[in-house]
Amino acid sequence: MNITRFIFRLFQCCVLICAIESIDRAIANEITLDIPKGLIEPDIPDTNTLTQEKLDLGKKLFFDTRLSSTSRMSCATCHNPEHGFSEKRSISFNANGLRLERNAPSVLNAGYLATVTWDGRFRTLEDQIQTPFSKSGDMDIEIDEAITIIQSQSDYNGLFEATFGRAVDKIGIAQALACYQRSLISANSPFDEFLFKGDISALSQSAMRGYELFIGKASCITCHDIFHPTVNSLGGALALFTDHRFHNLGVGYKNGKMSDTGRYWTTRAKEDWGAFKTPILRNVALTSPYMHDGSLPTLRKVVEFYNDGGIPNPNIAPGIRPLFLTDQEITDIVSFLESLTDNNLLKQSR
Ligand code: HEC
Ligand code: HEC
Repeated sequence: MNITRFIFRLFQCCVLICAIESIDRAIANEITLDIPKGLIEPDIPDTNTLTQEKLDLGKKLFFDTRLSSTSRMSCATCHNPEHGFSEKRSISFNANGLRLERNAPSVLNAGYLATVTWDGRFRTLEDQIQTPFSKSGDMDIEIDEAITIIQSQSDYNGLFEATFGRAVDKIGIAQALACYQRSLISANSPFDEFLFKGDISALSQSAMRGYELFIGKASCITCHDIFHPTVNSLGGALALFTDHRFHNLGVGYKNGKMSDTGRYWTTRAKEDWGAFKTPILRNVALTSPYMHDGSLPTLRKVVEFYNDGGIPNPNIAPGIRPLFLTDQEITDIVSFLESLTDNNLLKQSR
């Protein structure tokens, strides 16, 4: 073997050892999430496995107000943990005061979403960050500006290198934020105690009657599915209260027009006109106001809206029709919705 060949072989060995080491490191740092009863492990993409470093970095980014045009807005301003990771306002205004036309949904359990945003225009949480990081988007800065800000802040020194093995870039920011949001798993509500742990005393009589109505007379379950055969490759029941589909309830319909055409905006399919994603109802008592435009202030108003048959329009979903619920039945459904609040979450935000 001549010397050049020898050096080349040596170099090949080094590359191989480094590769094995980095794989080992990635596997060693991978974390598994604590999954409460009523939920199953969310799908984690192979390209963005969960590690504690990524999760911590994602959390730091999520709460960092410096990443906006005014240095005053973070993801958590609109996805506020004190408000079930959503916002009190009916419609969000971006960092520059621009009206964004929609209500900020909770990002709790976002790791289970089959599509992301009210109209489902993104398939992954990684893709979604294109919206907040754009001019006139939520943060009112482009991703490149976010990178420059991160590079200039000493508390980020070496953090991206240690987490991803390279300097801060768009992919790293997207992956860290997605990783943090996937860790926001929340169940452990009185309803879970009742259904999955068999504790019948966990629900009040009123909430119990509300549950019967939810799965029976009021047929809420046809869309807010509790036993959906799941979008997760692992199989099993996933009590998320969504069918991952889009329906038109007439919210925002007036004088022949939808103020927001919803899913249609993405697909241009007639059946999607004015249709929005069925939201997850876990922790819904914490996330008022309701609907994609935040037009309904309380859960009682939501149930009354359904009782009236939504807002009739040419594309209303077939299941939306007057329900003829009594006042007591409306109260019972509201009690049931209130039983979907995670006990731990309330303790954490105090
Ligand atoms: C100014 C308020 C505001 C800020 C800041 C903001 N968001 Fe949002 N977020 C919204 C609104 C409004 C929507 C609904 C958008 C839509 O449906 O088109 C949304 C939707 C989402 C969704 C989709 C949830 C679902 O149920 O489909 C995710 C995920 C999300 N935001 C994450 C983030 C992250 C990460 C950041 C920070 C980088 C952020 N948001 C910053 C207001 C905000
Ligand atoms: C045809 C499907 C369908 C049925 C049936 C249905 N929902 Fe919904 N639900 C949706 C969709 C879609 C939205 C979002 C609509 C929008 O914003 O335009 C929604 C929104 C909600 C919200 C607001 C959540 C939030 O975060 O803003 C609550 C609460 C709710 N539904 C409860 C119920 C209850 C209770 C029933 C039964 C009385 C019911 N739903 C029946 C599809 C349905």
